[in-house]
Amino acid sequence: MKISCRRKIAIHSRKDAILIPVYKNIKPLRLITGKKIDDELHEIIQSDYFNFEEKEIKSFYMELNRKLKKIYLIHAPKEQEAARQYMALGAKMAHILKSDKITTFSIISFEDIYNEKRDFSSTQGFIEGLMFGMYGYDRFKTKKDAHTLMEIEVITGMLKLKRFIDEKAEEWNTVFENVNLARDLTNTPPNYMTPEIFAKTAVKEAPEGMKVTVWDIRGIRENSLNLVEAVGRGSANKPYFLKIEYAGNPASESNVALVGKGVTFDSGGSNLKPTGSMEDMKTDMAGAAAVYAAVKLAAEMKLKVNINAYIPLVENIIGGDAIRPGDVVASASGKTVEIMNTDAEGRLILADALYIATKTDPEVIIDAATLTGGCVVALGPFCAGLFTNRKFLSKQVSDISDETAEDVWELPLFEDYAKGINSKTADMQNMSTFKREGSAIHAALFLRQFVDNYPWIHFDIAGTAWLDTPHPIFGTGASGFGVRLLYRFIEAHYCERSDD
Ligand code: BES
Ligand code: MN
Ligand code: ZN
Repeated sequence: MKISCRRKIAIHSRKDAILIPVYKNIKPLRLITGKKIDDELHEIIQSDYFNFEEKEIKSFYMELNRKLKKIYLIHAPKEQEAARQYMALGAKMAHILKSDKITTFSIISFEDIYNEKRDFSSTQGFIEGLMFGMYGYDRFKTKKDAHTLMEIEVITGMLKLKRFIDEKAEEWNTVFENVNLARDLTNTPPNYMTPEIFAKTAVKEAPEGMKVTVWDIRGIRENSLNLVEAVGRGSANKPYFLKIEYAGNPASESNVALVGKGVTFDSGGSNLKPTGSMEDMKTDMAGAAAVYAAVKLAAEMKLKVNINAYIPLVENIIGGDAIRPGDVVASASGKTVEIMNTDAEGRLILADALYIATKTDPEVIIDAATLTGGCVVALGPFCAGLFTNRKFLSKQVSDISDETAEDVWELPLFEDYAKGINSKTADMQNMSTFKREGSAIHAALFLRQFVDNYPWIHFDIAGTAWLDTPHPIFGTGASGFGVRLLYRFIEAHYCERSDD
């Protein structure tokens, strides 16, 4: 998407349409819109026509330079609000632009209509929302939609805003290439996104500076990733394990470790999921997709940080070789696990990956996983579960997540629940004796056994990764949840500032 900014008046826009934010009793915008638009606008705003609700968008045509030009009036909040309000407006606008087949437009900046403004987060939010809203997945549609948004031109009277956009435009594009990649990977049907295909795609898409090492079943066995091997055993699509290294700060030893759950399809295994619970289980690799996209984004933005990411890839399916409830398997760490429920497979593969992640002495280990239905029951579809063994991390993460509109809510790691995963036969079991009560917490407590008390953050994204209920910003289907959150969190707290 071409994002540009001009300090000119809107009348001279050469784009298909002009978007103008207004609110009731707004002061004349003449300096930015030009006299002709401003006069007509004020007539409209004073008239009964302007009785539409805040955040509604209306359109009409205006004759400009002897041509009819489409004008969208966006009823903006009266005062600058949080960025996510403008993200939602942007996403809404994207749907309208799509159905109106508009491919280029100019928009008067929101900041220009406010007397008091904190920052430029309104324009940024609106553009982010547009990017989310423009996304569509049509790989398997034989008829493709030819109309996609090509150009956004921000019109402003503020030199500072122009500088901000000129500086940020490329980054926004890179961010959304990667958000969209995560969405594509997750939306892809499970017969087109097997562990092998994910691994090959990860190698193919890796930019300069990002090293992807692929372990196939032999590598998995050689490195004793026995839980990954066990979960993948039932499928003809053999498991893979990815080790991804981005050394953006080679002078430093310090590094961040990321882990993403990559179950390319989760049938539940022998504890087979019922009809109604299995249909969307291609999305059980959304954590892997988010982690991969976030590292790729960090590499493309050349963040001054070292990141090691680990992605176990398996298909959890029934088969003659598949694991049984009651099987005991020794994990990579040596701790033994009694597999009491083959549908609690995510924590098994993550256990081995988390253990490997501790080996580089990381500053923090962050995992993202579509781990439990219990988390969705607790927090609904728009909010991920956040678990951490360090109090200060939850505050840091929550602050970033407010900015990116990827909502998280901290859930507890109660010690009194930990006995739920004690096993009679092995060191622990993967299914709690509490059954489904507090299952997100028990899953997290299970993972905690493998992080060796390193600072650790676990995101349960079972609800947020895939949306049936339309989200005001992310819409439906794969959301790309976590890509921006991981990226901005790492950028804010683990990056050395670049000298240049
Ligand atoms: N992949 C599922 C969790 C899930 C559920 C993701 C709904 C997205 C939407 C996970 O592997 C699973 O099956 N979890 C079980 C755990 C249970 C057996 C303890 C669950 O949540 O029911
Ligand atoms: Mn499962
Ligand atoms: Zn799963």
